[in-house]
Amino acid sequence: MSSFVDYTVVVTGASSGIGFELSRLLVDAGAQVFAADLDAAGAPDGCVRIDADVALEEDVERVVSTAIDATGRIDVLCNNAGLGSTTSVVDCPTDEWDRVFAVNARGVFLGMKHVLPTMVAQGKGSIVNTASVAGLIGLPDRAAYSASKGAVISLTRQVAIQYAATGVRCNCICPGTVDSPWVGRLLQGADDPAAARAALVARQPVGRLGQPLEIAKAALYLASDDAEFVTGTALVIDGGIVAG
Ligand SMILES: NC(=O)c1ccc[n+]([C@@H]2O[C@H](COP(=O)([O-])OP(=O)(O)OC[C@H]3O[C@@H](n4cnc5c(N)ncnc54)[C@H](O)[C@@H]3O)[C@@H](O)[C@H]2O)c1
Repeated sequence: MSSFVDYTVVVTGASSGIGFELSRLLVDAGAQVFAADLDAAGAPDGCVRIDADVALEEDVERVVSTAIDATGRIDVLCNNAGLGSTTSVVDCPTDEWDRVFAVNARGVFLGMKHVLPTMVAQGKGSIVNTASVAGLIGLPDRAAYSASKGAVISLTRQVAIQYAATGVRCNCICPGTVDSPWVGRLLQGADDPAAARAALVARQPVGRLGQPLEIAKAALYLASDDAEFVTGTALVIDGGIVAG
């Protein structure tokens, strides 16, 4: 794996699950990691922790300017913060739809908007957005979530093409079901959590859920110089769901 020594990296949603593991891998690889989260106290040791809501432009601007003011550059942005939603179109409260889009789609847009000028001026940069298999295939009761992740995949491709000649790469990851605190919360809300977990596992061709670290390693690859020829891709890490 390429080194991240002297690389300035911003990771959002860094206090839990995939973002936590990714931030830890990046710190271990030598990066200066600026870890943004609604509650950044939970981000790994070695990160600069910044409380921020990615849905708010002033917060995203503050995160990016903190990183650039401290180091003079920005090499990698991992737009990983995300919000779940488990309803159909009919049952989805309209304010829930709006909040899911504000975090999952607008948050990704804002992060890219504020790092791209610096990355383009550097002639180099790597953006990794966290989408989901829900943005690629239809899943029951994921109306707002699927639509927001589809937006992440489309915007990733658009940005990749817009900036391909500048040295800035833009990719996304599409995890399947990952055993993060997120899934724990999803199961807690179910009528029968054990049955709900069994149903999630049964959906997996490989017979198990993914681990946050497995997803983080894929994001680390796309962030790294090993992926220098990769832009505009939606990398699926899902234990076979999309193939089925
Ligand atoms: N867990 C899964 O099964 C799964 C599957 C596919 C995609 N994903 C995506 O992976 C990403 C990370 O999910 P996870 O499973 O690690 O979840 P998680 O709940 O363990 O972690 C998400 C983190 O994001 C933070 N966050 C949420 N809203 C935020 C906001 N507005 N501003 C800043 N931070 C915010 C939370 O505080 C939390 O620390 C999300 O984008 C999610 O949609 C997860």
